[in-house]
Amino acid sequence: MIPPASPPPVRVAVIGAGLMGREVASAFGRWFALLDCPVRPELVAVCDVHAAALDWFRQVPTVKHFDLDHRVLLARSEIDVVYVAVPHHLHEPIYLDVLRAGKDLFAEKPFGIDLPAARRIRDEGKRLGRFVRVSSEFPFLPGAQRAFQLARSGALGRLLEVRSAFLHSSDLDPAKAINWKRQSKFCGEAGVMNDLGLHVAHLPLRLGWKPARVYAQLQRIYADRPDGKGGRAPCDTWDNAALHTTATIAGQPVPLTLEMKRLAPTETNTWIFEALGTDRGVRYSTKEPKTLWLYRRDQEQWWEKTDLGFGTPFKTITGHIFEPGFPDLLQQMWAAFLAERAGLLGERFGCATPDEAVAHHEIWTAALASQRDQSVAAID
Ligand SMILES: NC(=O)c1ccc[n+]([C@@H]2O[C@H](COP(=O)([O-])OP(=O)(O)OC[C@H]3O[C@@H](n4cnc5c(N)ncnc54)[C@H](O)[C@@H]3O)[C@@H](O)[C@H]2O)c1
Repeated sequence: MIPPASPPPVRVAVIGAGLMGREVASAFGRWFALLDCPVRPELVAVCDVHAAALDWFRQVPTVKHFDLDHRVLLARSEIDVVYVAVPHHLHEPIYLDVLRAGKDLFAEKPFGIDLPAARRIRDEGKRLGRFVRVSSEFPFLPGAQRAFQLARSGALGRLLEVRSAFLHSSDLDPAKAINWKRQSKFCGEAGVMNDLGLHVAHLPLRLGWKPARVYAQLQRIYADRPDGKGGRAPCDTWDNAALHTTATIAGQPVPLTLEMKRLAPTETNTWIFEALGTDRGVRYSTKEPKTLWLYRRDQEQWWEKTDLGFGTPFKTITGHIFEPGFPDLLQQMWAAFLAERAGLLGERFGCATPDEAVAHHEIWTAALASQRDQSVAAID
């Protein structure tokens, strides 16, 4: 039971009751699993243009409003924060409506369909003084946190190479029907980079490792797919992206590879971060979700492997030897969002910022130019 002295909950609304909207309801529904989060959310309203999508939320006892038009939802005074999880072409209009309605915004990636849209959303949020962050949950994994802390500490020595990757295989089946993520007008010209890219760029950008140049290898693998109505529909987004970039780190040019793939055989949802230096190195992959690999050098060179437990940024009731999974990360990310909004994040890792989202679009814009011209492109 919540002690009577605890502050009132932050009232959250969801616009876009699809895959991600439900995950938020689930994360809030077991908020009592968190032991030291200073803020408590309550999901009070949900909006989707499809009435059927709202029905799932009728089992969530705190939800009082079920709206079909986001403007109706935004006119409600009893909402503090809005989480928006809609197709990318709707990010800019709906995010701007949220900000102008006086609400704080937890945005989904990629934060606008392209770079100009991302800049306009960021600038409006700043102008209005709203608290805005962008969803990117993988850095909240204990293994990712350990990799981040080691990379930030300077203990790696002179950095030799970095690889950040996010790999899917769901699109390998050519019979899979098309959806909005495979169509440029909804997903954006950057395709898979819009879809999976913030997951890959968040940690390097937070470490200050923004690339200055990129050579991009972008692939379109299936040109069309079943349209779900008996016909075929063009699949006009980039499916796989391998970006060979150079970042200046501690005054030295360092190769930084960013990989985002929808057709990576055997990978269901694999997030990888590796950084190798002259003295130490780190390798973490959700393929082995509890295993952290650490490289060190003395007379010989060693890869050491350790099993991590439930060392999440916010403490939980879960035993320290157990493994965290995707729903735990989302809950940790939301705890970070709400704590930072309240000025109570402390030294913990914060969610991706609008500036980081704009910076990641700057990389994808240059990658598109590199692919078009088959040359190395400068990044703004
Ligand atoms: N952080 C992550 O791990 C992660 C994972 C998947 C998707 N996403 C992001 O979440 C967003 C949504 O993706 P998804 O996979 O949940 O999509 P989805 O297609 O499952 O859900 C989108 C929902 O938005 C609704 N919608 C469309 N137009 C609307 C409008 N005008 N008003 C209200 N609702 C509207 C649709 O009816 C649908 O229910 C995207 O930005 C995507 O990149 C993030």
